[in-house]
Amino acid sequence: MIQISHVSKSYVKGKKSIDNINLEVRNGEIFGFLGPNGAGKTTTIKMITGILNPDEGDIFIDGRSIKSEPIEAKKRFGFVPDTPDMFLRLKGIEYLNFLADIYEISNEEGKERIKKLTQKFEIHDVLQNQIQTYSHGMRQKIVICGVLLNNPKNWILDEPMVGLDPKSSYDLKEMMREHAKQGNTVFFSTHVLEVAEKLCDRFAIIDKGQILFVGTYEEMKEKFKEKASLEELFLEITEKNENEENK
Ligand SMILES: Nc1ncnc2c1ncn2[C@@H]1O[C@H](COP(=O)(O)OP(=O)(O)OP(=O)(O)O)[C@@H](O)[C@H]1O
Ligand SMILES: [Mg+2]
Repeated sequence: MIQISHVSKSYVKGKKSIDNINLEVRNGEIFGFLGPNGAGKTTTIKMITGILNPDEGDIFIDGRSIKSEPIEAKKRFGFVPDTPDMFLRLKGIEYLNFLADIYEISNEEGKERIKKLTQKFEIHDVLQNQIQTYSHGMRQKIVICGVLLNNPKNWILDEPMVGLDPKSSYDLKEMMREHAKQGNTVFFSTHVLEVAEKLCDRFAIIDKGQILFVGTYEEMKEKFKEKASLEELFLEITEKNENEENK
């Protein structure tokens, strides 16, 4: 479970990139975080994962504050960032073994899990190559494998489908469903409204640092009856916000 409580953040003095947001992502659900470019999705995710500190408010992962109990909070999630360009000089296998060591997974078990995950994502054959020789999608896959090694309860992913081929994207979505079904939490940002519509139990729409909607697709359709697709609903909500700003 992830709880965001009264969180604000400014990069530049006087301009709030995140403006007093509240959000609860429950156990057992896939939660989508939608919003146009520059809305504040990555900034929010960086605060959830402790990369950035909020100016105000706090965030709790399974009840542990990322501010006051950062280690305990961090043990409870796995994070896939939007730019999977890390440890480029390491070979794939070195990167995964390194993570298995950090997570204190035994050699035997680590080997088994690395094999299973990398075969699933079809990168098993390139593990002896340096990560800098991988394509964007392959880099993303190895980061996802690294995160899943530890089997974290809460998955946090920033634009995870970008760069993945159809099969890997399908597999990842299936894994997200399976993970949520087991009572765990999946929180991810996306621009792909079709994915959100089909995959998410609930979602939030953020624009200019403010949450404009939280709920199920059904609830959203009920609220804006005349619109048929999530795409239309999304455009309606974010454009309305734009018009009100300009008044
Ligand atoms: N390091 C930074 N310094 C200054 N401003 C920043 C910085 N990072 C983000 N911002 C600003 O904060 C706002 C939110 O950016 P953020 O990256 O969180 O958006 P996003 O919703 O993830 O967008 P995208 O869909 O393009 O990934 C934007 O106005 C952006 O210009
Ligand atoms: Mg972003």
